[in-house]
Amino acid sequence: MPFNIPTIDIGQSFSSDSVYAESQANLLREILIEYGFFSVNNHNIDTKIIKTIELKAKEFFSCSPEQKNLCIGYLESTGSTRFIPGNSHMQNLRIVPDHFFSNNHKLLQYENRRLESVGKTIDDYMLLPKDDIVDGFESATRSYINAMSSVANKLLPLYARALNLEYNYFNNLFTDPYWIFYCKYYPPYSTLENQYGLAEHSDLDFITILPLSSVPGLEILVENSWQPVGYKENSILVFTGDFLHRWSNGLCKAAVHRVTIPETDRYSFPFHYNPNFDVTDESLPSCINENPIVDSPLTLFDFLHKRTLL
Ligand SMILES: [Fe+2]
Repeated sequence: MPFNIPTIDIGQSFSSDSVYAESQANLLREILIEYGFFSVNNHNIDTKIIKTIELKAKEFFSCSPEQKNLCIGYLESTGSTRFIPGNSHMQNLRIVPDHFFSNNHKLLQYENRRLESVGKTIDDYMLLPKDDIVDGFESATRSYINAMSSVANKLLPLYARALNLEYNYFNNLFTDPYWIFYCKYYPPYSTLENQYGLAEHSDLDFITILPLSSVPGLEILVENSWQPVGYKENSILVFTGDFLHRWSNGLCKAAVHRVTIPETDRYSFPFHYNPNFDVTDESLPSCINENPIVDSPLTLFDFLHKRTLL
C-alpha cells in the first residue's frame, strides 16, 4: 500500500478562523513529532508559477555548458551527499538572495570559495539566472521564490502554536529570513547499486518547501522503511530540517529523504527557509527539558557555516 503523506490545511489563518487554525496546529504537532514532513492543502499557489519554472529550467539545463556557466549560480554537481558515499549525477542551479550577500560576509566567503573552485567569482548581486540565458527565467524565478515565501509565512503561526508558543512568536525572528532556492536537474542514468540522484540526508534548515515533481524519485524514510512519495497534482511538501530539530530540542523529527535516479528527466525546486541569521538553536521556551540536545547553542549563521564546511 502506498504511504499516505499527512496533510495540513493552511487555507485559514488565526485571524480568519482561529478554531480551525488551532485544530490544524494540533495536528501539525503530532506530524512534526512522528514524521517530520507533510503536504499542504489550500496553499493558493497558482500552478502556472510552478509549471513556468519547470519549463524554464528545462530550457536552461538543455543549454550548452558554456551557456549554463554564464549563470554565476550554476554549479554542475560533482559529488553526492553527506551521508552515503557514491556518485551523483545531479546538476544544481543554486540561487541565493541578495540580502544574503549584503549582510552576511562570512557565508559569502563560503559561497565564493565554492564558486572559485570552478573558476567563478561573485559580485554582490542576486544570483538569479539572467534572461539572456533563457528568456523569462529571471521573472519565473522571482515569482516562484515569492510564492514559496508566502507558503512559509502562512506556516509560521501554525508552527508556533504546534510548539505551544503564541501564534505570532516567530514574527520577530523571521524579519530577514535566510532562504536558498535550488533548481535541480536529475538526468536519467542507468542505475548502479547504491547510486542516487541525491543520497540519504536530512536538510540543514528550519524547513524545506518542495512542490512535488510528477516524475517519481523522491523517497522518505518512515519507521526505517523507504517510502516513495506518490505524485498528486498541486501538492507541496514541507520537510523539517536539522535546525528546527535542534531548536525544538529534538521534539521535531528531521525528515530523512533521498532521490533515486529517475528513468526520465526530473526537475526539482526546493526552497529552504530559515529565520534571521542571528537566531540561535537554543531550545525554544516550550521545548526545554532536563536533557537538552544542544550543548552550546549556535546562531543559524554559525550552524550553517559549520555544517557546510564539513
Ligand atoms: Fe534534501
